Amino acid sequence: MPRTVIVSNRLPIKIQRTEENLTFQPSEGGLATGLGSIYRADGNVWVGWPGLYVQDESEEEYVREQLAEDSMAPVFLTEAEIRDYYEGFSNGTLWPTFHYFAQLALYDDALWQAYKAVNEKFCQAVLARTGPDDTIWVHDYQLLLLPEMLRQARPNATIGFFLHIPFPSYELIRVLPWRDELLRGMLGADLIGFHTFGYMRHFLSAVSQLLGLPSQNGQVETPTRTVLVDAFPMGIDYGRYADAAVSEQALAHVQEYREALRDVRVILSIDRLDYTKGIAQRLRAFELLLQRYPEWRGQVSLLMVVVPSRDQVAQYASLKEEIDELVGRINAQYRTISWNPVHYFYRSFPLEELAALYRLAEVAMVTPMRDGMNLVAKEFVASKTDQRGVLILSERAGAARELSDALIINPTDTGQLAEALHEALVMPEDEQITRMANMQTLVRQYDIFAWTKLFMDRLAYAKGQQLTLATT
Ligand code: G6P
Repeated sequence: MPRTVIVSNRLPIKIQRTEENLTFQPSEGGLATGLGSIYRADGNVWVGWPGLYVQDESEEEYVREQLAEDSMAPVFLTEAEIRDYYEGFSNGTLWPTFHYFAQLALYDDALWQAYKAVNEKFCQAVLARTGPDDTIWVHDYQLLLLPEMLRQARPNATIGFFLHIPFPSYELIRVLPWRDELLRGMLGADLIGFHTFGYMRHFLSAVSQLLGLPSQNGQVETPTRTVLVDAFPMGIDYGRYADAAVSEQALAHVQEYREALRDVRVILSIDRLDYTKGIAQRLRAFELLLQRYPEWRGQVSLLMVVVPSRDQVAQYASLKEEIDELVGRINAQYRTISWNPVHYFYRSFPLEELAALYRLAEVAMVTPMRDGMNLVAKEFVASKTDQRGVLILSERAGAARELSDALIINPTDTGQLAEALHEALVMPEDEQITRMANMQTLVRQYDIFAWTKLFMDRLAYAKGQQLTLATT
């Protein structure tokens, strides 16, 4: 029976080293949930980096066995590979370029060589687990070369690729010295998916202008094959967030937080620490709100969760300092003995506490400079079971294409953002409910399971079409 293999840089597992042993904790991410029914099915597997350096061969073997029990196969990476492929080319070159922060991008051939070598390593790991007619679904920017590498070795395989970050304008892609190889790498797939039609258009334009390959109705004609390109806006596990929001644990947390905060109203912000997320701009907008509308002082607090991320990458460390300083400045200027303007947490929260924060917050500020989709926006919507609450959403998050009932803002316009905060805080309840209900209908319907099914069905269709073309 043909198998399906999922491939991503990171496996959906958190392995932690304690003094005595290793502990394995499944990741709570939406992708892992959505793909669960696929990679856990008989004979299928998820290939990726387990996020840990092994100390010796026996530990490697132990990790391999443990992961196999949950249908995962590890690709072990060395410290040098992590430095050059992951922190270097993936997060120091591709991440800033694809998010329109080209001024931060590194152009270093040694990093590129490491990126190619690690993509090749992933290729070998996948080949070891697949036959000629299997289906392989590759995920994200860390593995752009993998579809073509796999295609060379398995001409008949069904290969899908999904990009979880934006695909930028051709003007950014053309700056990369390795642009042609990267595009050709992606074109090894039968189906290439993006979150929005905008990203898809940028990709088709880059392929046409850089490789001279024409396309029609989302089909790219390469000299040997037709590649289908389409938009698949990713969703969340709606039920999980809606249920968590009314769970006993979450309610207990809400009560505890409420007592601590008394009557203060809550604006929520949750992100990984990343310069693409607009965290500093968000803080400035909150500061401006307190300046322009002094009546909110003492009445409203910003609850800001920043999840540590990629702290070995230089641009991330300086951002942390900027945020620390801004929070310090705002709190020092406005705080009173009984009121704290910004509650700042630099850590991650378990689902029940997160659910409590979503429930407690009257306003969520999701204001990235650029974001492929942004699932926090959708999680907030799913958690608002009483339909009270306002989402402020950046026009440059993929989610803005779907969630048009949010207050859509330009995140660089601090003044507009401060006004949106004020508008959200005074929005009549019936308007909140109408907007929230509309967004819930959409987020509920296009959840992570619908997304997975849509992609897999489309992939089978793309392959079917290839076969028809080949035989006519
Ligand atoms: C983004 C990327 C993912 C990545 C995640 C966490 O969502 O699209 O590929 O896994 O960030 O980043 P990390 O570098 O910790 O894997």
